Amino acid sequence: MKRVAVIGGDGIGPEVVAAAVPVLEAVADKHGLHVALDSWDLGADRYLRDGTTLPAGERDRLVDEYDAALLGAIGDPRVPSNVHARDILLGLRFHADLYVNYRPCRLLAPSLCPLIDAPHEIDIAFFRENTEGLYAGVGGRFKAGTPDEIAVQESVNTWKGVERIVRAAFEHAARAGRERVTLVDKANALVHEGALWRRVFDEVGDEWPEVRRDAVYVDAMAMDLVRRPERYEVVVASNLFGDILSDLGAQITGGLGLAPSGNIHPGSWAFFEPTHGSAPDIAGTGTANPLAAIRCVVLLLEWLGCSEAGDDVEAAVVASVEAGVATPDLGGTATTREVGDWIAARV
Ligand code: NAD
Ligand code: IPM
Ligand code: MN
Repeated sequence: MKRVAVIGGDGIGPEVVAAAVPVLEAVADKHGLHVALDSWDLGADRYLRDGTTLPAGERDRLVDEYDAALLGAIGDPRVPSNVHARDILLGLRFHADLYVNYRPCRLLAPSLCPLIDAPHEIDIAFFRENTEGLYAGVGGRFKAGTPDEIAVQESVNTWKGVERIVRAAFEHAARAGRERVTLVDKANALVHEGALWRRVFDEVGDEWPEVRRDAVYVDAMAMDLVRRPERYEVVVASNLFGDILSDLGAQITGGLGLAPSGNIHPGSWAFFEPTHGSAPDIAGTGTANPLAAIRCVVLLLEWLGCSEAGDDVEAAVVASVEAGVATPDLGGTATTREVGDWIAARV
């Protein structure tokens, strides 16, 4: 039996997760998988109620007692400091050392691509480093609140940290039969971290002579993802660059409403969440697209060793798009729940 923690979180998080859970239950039923789901109350409501975010004991229990978690989104305008998101989201990523942020952006139908002369195929797997870089929290503020205030935020890049994410990207390329891995950095300006990333990229890449490799500066990459996205297959980047580019990758393949992501420590623990956030602008309207959350179920099933069940879910997602059963972001009129129910029934 597999145990999965379900964390709705904030805003549209609980809405998209509520649409994804019946899909998971339906596909588990079909394939005879035993998946026990437990709801966890984490997010802004709880923080505003009792001041707790993710107590260490609960965090350890989550990681120790569950095979994985499915999360909606964390972030709420009532918590401007975002302290609860840092504790829950970044807390889990850092504490469980989930160094791979895997964000696949695959175009399900050419009509979903907003680009003029849209390519028929876009299939980019982003490998975002998930435990260091500018997110490490190193730095501080000096003379805060005065005109002399200084804010320092350091980018932390360790050989170990860079090596393992670059390796994950090449391993994925080899496993998935992809031809090219692209490193995205800013080595022309950020020379210290750039030199480290490029040395590791070449050393690790040499182990896969059959996989081509190239390096692109992040500014040029932002342009090229619009100009010729079909060129890119596997992209590896630091924490911040990966964060930014994976939203762009989502948009050229249909939008944030479709883009799943996995926070993974291979062989250890993982949680899956849409790339999007809590979308306060549409929360409570029933219009949030649940496909990103439902495609997180695909990644979760793969993690649990049930890829065939995941394939069924992905096929049903494609069928929903082809049938025009879609939320307003994709031009449809269906609600979050209706899309989820249609896909669960299709499965
Ligand atoms: P966002 O991703 O929540 O929203 C950006 C835009 O995309 C909005 O217009 C929103 O309506 C739209 N959108 C997002 N998901 C959608 C969906 N499923 N269906 C239809 N439209 C969708 O980004 P934001 O507005 O910058 O952030 C809102 C909050 O979410 C912030 O607190 C932020 O910190 C947080 N956030 C959390 C996560 C996470 O939990 N992993 C990720 C990103 C942002
Ligand atoms: C994401 C989000 C988070 C990040 C925020 C909410 C801290 O944007 O998961 O992509 O920057 O990693
Ligand atoms: Mn992001």
